[in-house]
Amino acid sequence: MRRLENKVIFVAGAGGIGGGLARRYAEEGARVLLGDIDLAAAEEVVQAINDAGHSAASIRLDGSDEDSVNAAVSFCVEKLGGLDGLHANFASLADSNREQGILELPLETFDLTQRVNVRGYYLCTRAALPVMLAAGGGSIVYTSSIGAYTGGAAQVAYSMSKAAGHALMRHVATRYGPQGVRANTIAPGLILHPAAEAEISEELLAMCCARASIKSRTGRPTDIAALGALLLSDEGGYITGQVICVDGGTTMRA
Ligand SMILES: NC(=O)c1ccc[n+]([C@@H]2O[C@H](COP(=O)([O-])OP(=O)(O)OC[C@H]3O[C@@H](n4cnc5c(N)ncnc54)[C@H](O)[C@@H]3O)[C@@H](O)[C@H]2O)c1
Repeated sequence: MRRLENKVIFVAGAGGIGGGLARRYAEEGARVLLGDIDLAAAEEVVQAINDAGHSAASIRLDGSDEDSVNAAVSFCVEKLGGLDGLHANFASLADSNREQGILELPLETFDLTQRVNVRGYYLCTRAALPVMLAAGGGSIVYTSSIGAYTGGAAQVAYSMSKAAGHALMRHVATRYGPQGVRANTIAPGLILHPAAEAEISEELLAMCCARASIKSRTGRPTDIAALGALLLSDEGGYITGQVICVDGGTTMRA
């Protein structure tokens, strides 16, 4: 399928899920810019995409830095010919210690988490919107987490940062929808890829599997990419303002 033919998509954040997003969007015909603070990680994915005959470029991106974000958007416009879609996907996972509640979490960890996850998505949005508005529209997808809904004894800063992104998404969808810009959020449950597998404890894995309705497997980056491709495509043209969980039925919201 070539659902993103002739579109330029900026995937902000490589890693396990971001690599899968970039691959899928390029397979769908998009010219992809993949940015990450870890340039080597982005370059590796981009090399594989281009070797497979698709089109992608990489850039070093600090999503929490305005100049860095603006440079990535300028790259899309000047080198790739525009910007039709943004998928803001990077995250600081510094708040990952399951022993820490609000009383134990260092304030520096809270600040870093908000700086990258909240300010970062805000900056990406602010840089992308003028280009999309000038072109008559575009589509923005944000990666959140079911942690924004589920509550938990740990990861309070991370969950707060993801919930803040939902408010950003609704603002964009409401204010700029009349000018053709759509915004949606994907909230993954447990998505396994090599880096995540290395990090996750057997206990947490068992807990996540027990909570999901689909028992035959855990989530994969391709599950997130499949929904992202729809939301960024013209086929998704009437979907906006939504948070959609991709979590094997771990959460069920009205
Ligand atoms: N894997 C899961 O189970 C899961 C579940 C829920 C939500 N998520 C969300 O999915 C997204 C991707 O997660 P992942 O599992 O692929 O993790 P990952 O660690 O593989 O990828 C995250 C990427 O963000 C990059 N990054 C960190 N700080 C950055 C910055 N300042 N600027 C630019 N890039 C930066 C990292 O270098 C890394 O490549 C994140 O938003 C995460 O919160 C993942």
